[in-house]
Amino acid sequence: MKIFIDTADVQEIREANDMGILDGVTTNPSLIAKSGRKFRDVIEEIVKIVDGPISAEVVSLDHEGMMKEAREYAKIHSNVVIKLPMTVEGLKALKICVSEKIKTNITLVFNANQALLVGKVGATFVSPFIGRLDDISQIGMDLIRQIRTIYNNYGIKTQILAASIRNPIHFLESALVGADVATVPMSVIKQLTQHPLTDLGIERFLKDWEKVPK
Ligand code: E4P
Repeated sequence: MKIFIDTADVQEIREANDMGILDGVTTNPSLIAKSGRKFRDVIEEIVKIVDGPISAEVVSLDHEGMMKEAREYAKIHSNVVIKLPMTVEGLKALKICVSEKIKTNITLVFNANQALLVGKVGATFVSPFIGRLDDISQIGMDLIRQIRTIYNNYGIKTQILAASIRNPIHFLESALVGADVATVPMSVIKQLTQHPLTDLGIERFLKDWEKVPK
């Protein structure tokens, strides 16, 4: 499973990249707002750090507006992936992006029928939001399972990008059910590296090392 980081914080992106585990980055308007920086500046900096897909989300609601943004952002770097919302207008923009060979990530996907349509039109990535479904008492992981089955049934090549991952269990289950990518906040990436027995083991080895004649 590929690992993307879900952030617009370039320090976090640098750190995850230095760990050698990073395949790409997803951003969204909320994450850009949190960075306190201009959208274009952030994307231009990220493409210099990470050599992999970088999702940049449009905010227009009509497909003409979406395409204006998409064409502008796609010019920044060949790794830029245009994030479009799962709406009728988003699908129209997706169709145009596919014909213009612009990479896409369809976001805010909450059921498998939406994902089937996205795959049919030919998106590069589809982003089902696990955590936000859990938040409203639906089992987010069931959605990833359903999409995997449908995409396998019909040989759909769109990559399933498990999004809205809030904890290590979401990450583990995404890998078990066969998501192609998980996009994960830095806090969860750090949790993935940890185990209490690892810390205890280091502590014991260091204590014993003190007894070794120097
Ligand atoms: C995905 O691309 C989104 O940016 C993200 O995963 C949303 O996560 P949240 O539901 O924790 O905001």
